[in-house]
Amino acid sequence: MVLIQEVLREPAKAAVFLVLAVRPGSEDTARALLEDIAGLTRAVGFRAPDDLLSCVVGIGASAWSRLYRVPAPRDLHPFRALSGAKHTAPATHGDLLFHFRARRLDLCFELARQVMARLAGHVKVLDEVQGFKYFDERDLLGFVDGTENPTGSKAVAAITVGDEDPAYAGGSYVVVQKYLHDLDAWQALPVAEQERVIGREKLSDFELSDEDKPANSHVAVNTIVDPDGTERQIVRENMAFGSLGAAEFGTYFIGYAATPDVIERMLHRMFVGEPPGNYDRILDFSTAVTGSLFFVPTAEFLEDPSPAPAATTPARINRNPADGSLGIGSLRRSRT
Ligand code: HEM
Repeated sequence: MVLIQEVLREPAKAAVFLVLAVRPGSEDTARALLEDIAGLTRAVGFRAPDDLLSCVVGIGASAWSRLYRVPAPRDLHPFRALSGAKHTAPATHGDLLFHFRARRLDLCFELARQVMARLAGHVKVLDEVQGFKYFDERDLLGFVDGTENPTGSKAVAAITVGDEDPAYAGGSYVVVQKYLHDLDAWQALPVAEQERVIGREKLSDFELSDEDKPANSHVAVNTIVDPDGTERQIVRENMAFGSLGAAEFGTYFIGYAATPDVIERMLHRMFVGEPPGNYDRILDFSTAVTGSLFFVPTAEFLEDPSPAPAATTPARINRNPADGSLGIGSLRRSRT
């Protein structure tokens, strides 16, 4: 059985998001830290087992070939910026993403601190956000966020790479975007109108009926159904964040999926619109200021990136064996 990273878990109360650039020449240090991340997480988290500390690591397209000699996951590429008639989604650099979650911020902070101590001098912090859930699972727009996440086997199917990329089966893709809200404009909007922007009732969290839900509401734009009736889902765990001094109020979007396609399709519908012009009205109150895509390998891969799942990797044949053998290489993935 493949040991996967803990992408699926009950909603956390607190999170720390770290997006890092690995300095040239520091690849071995970064890779060594990733090999130890599960152990570090256990060391910090086991002291408070009820508070469910977890850490998911993602690796960006630009970092993959620097860190690993094995071919990159099939669909890993840099985040693609989007430009609609009115709103844009910028692409920003990121070699590594750390998504720390727990019921308490101190656990996330401590693990992040340990990670940064190991990486001191070897990385540059490109973005750091300490996030929280607002009251009853709400974001700073005041709406309950996360309700329609798939659960159980649907969630597993939504986020897990399968036979389409056997060497990376069990992994996931993850997109992060930092959004800043114009809270003054949002709060000036009557609640009934805010509900038409989101597509759900604010207090009860009930979804608006099809007649009442505008086509440019956030929920309508992000409901994607294939022609055969299958809904394409992702797993999100957005967090609120803010700075009072800087008057900065935001939502850190994080979405996991088995392929970046689904998230990219959602983003296209949000920013450009399908049909073009039917962009997501949430963007009139929320500006995307970052955007990066990462691959989340299995925990097994992180701990020992050299071997490949034997069943799925073809034998390598050395055409000039020095030892006179048949030259059938290892069934394990080679790092050279
Ligand atoms: C649903 C907030 C960005 C995808 C929702 C809901 C809220 C919300 C309140 C309704 C409750 C729920 O089902 O979770 C936000 C905020 C965002 C943001 C404040 C940033 C400003 C995004 C982005 C994506 C996305 C960037 C995709 C790339 C979805 C999906 C749903 C959803 C798939 C569920 C739709 C359904 O099936 O009903 N979001 N979201 N969201 N959001 Fe977002």
